[in-house]
Amino acid sequence: THCILIGAPVDEGQRRPGCLMGPSAYRTAGLAATLEDLGHTSEDRGDVSPAPLGAETCRNGAVHHLPETIAWTRALRSATEAAMPDGMPIIMGGDHSLALGSVAGIAAHAARVGRPQFVIWLDAHSDFHTVESTTSGNLHGTPMAYAHGNAGFDPFPPFPAPIPGENICMFGIRSVDPAEHAAMQLTDITVNDMRILDEHGIVAPLRGFLDRVRAANGLLHVSLDVDFLDPSIAPAVGTTVPGGATFREAHLVMELLHESGLVTSLDLVELNPFLDERGRTAKLMVDLVGSLMGRKVFDRPTRSYG
Ligand code: ARG
Ligand code: MN
Ligand code: MN
Ligand code: MN
Repeated sequence: THCILIGAPVDEGQRRPGCLMGPSAYRTAGLAATLEDLGHTSEDRGDVSPAPLGAETCRNGAVHHLPETIAWTRALRSATEAAMPDGMPIIMGGDHSLALGSVAGIAAHAARVGRPQFVIWLDAHSDFHTVESTTSGNLHGTPMAYAHGNAGFDPFPPFPAPIPGENICMFGIRSVDPAEHAAMQLTDITVNDMRILDEHGIVAPLRGFLDRVRAANGLLHVSLDVDFLDPSIAPAVGTTVPGGATFREAHLVMELLHESGLVTSLDLVELNPFLDERGRTAKLMVDLVGSLMGRKVFDRPTRSYG
């Protein structure tokens, strides 16, 4: 695979400074070398700069950095859409508001090539607020609702090709606000919260979704939020929620995604290197990308054990 690294030093979607250092931390932790050791080629397109700042406003007075976030959305949409025909974009964040742009870019590409777009959202949070419903005002809590085409994003450019709920699968969810909960009830999104994962494990729910992607000849975007992981193994994130995915569950998800051969784009979000301990979270995220891109101990036909 030809991997296209795109730096997205976005910090404006939340209020704890530091995510802007994420792209540098991934480079320092050896993301490109990890990909090349696995036999892939990689190209680093550098850090994206936001589009010119507008003067957008909204009714919700809580909203933080609206014009800045829209400026990032425009720039990241173009960078991601432009990268799709050339290989597999890996967006190095940056807080999760970057997915307002990256998911718009991949959805626009999917519409252009006439294939359905699917999304796997690996996160403690559903990020299903709108500009109008968010109470924290932090727009990193909104990209999934934007991608689904929800109303409540008036100041934003219209989402290019809204992603139907059947094409969205969330894993690791354990923190959902009331307005998000109400909005999700109206959708067909598959929400594999921790309750489901505790009972069924990760393998069956994930394979079920991957089978649907394959049957539809879909493109598959993976959005990996650091807080999907348990804070004990991934402390470098502003929004820690206890009870997250373990080291082994997280690698297993990545290995299954690799074996599926379906993943066409990836976001790495919410890493805040200022909160890290000797780079351990950045290194873990890079190792997870290694598993996603084919690192394994033995080549064995895992599928035949299922
Ligand atoms: N639901 C909360 C909010 O809207 C938390 C969002 C966390 N999102 C994230 N991408 N870490 O403020
Ligand atoms: Mn700020
Ligand atoms: Mn998130
Ligand atoms: Mn999160």
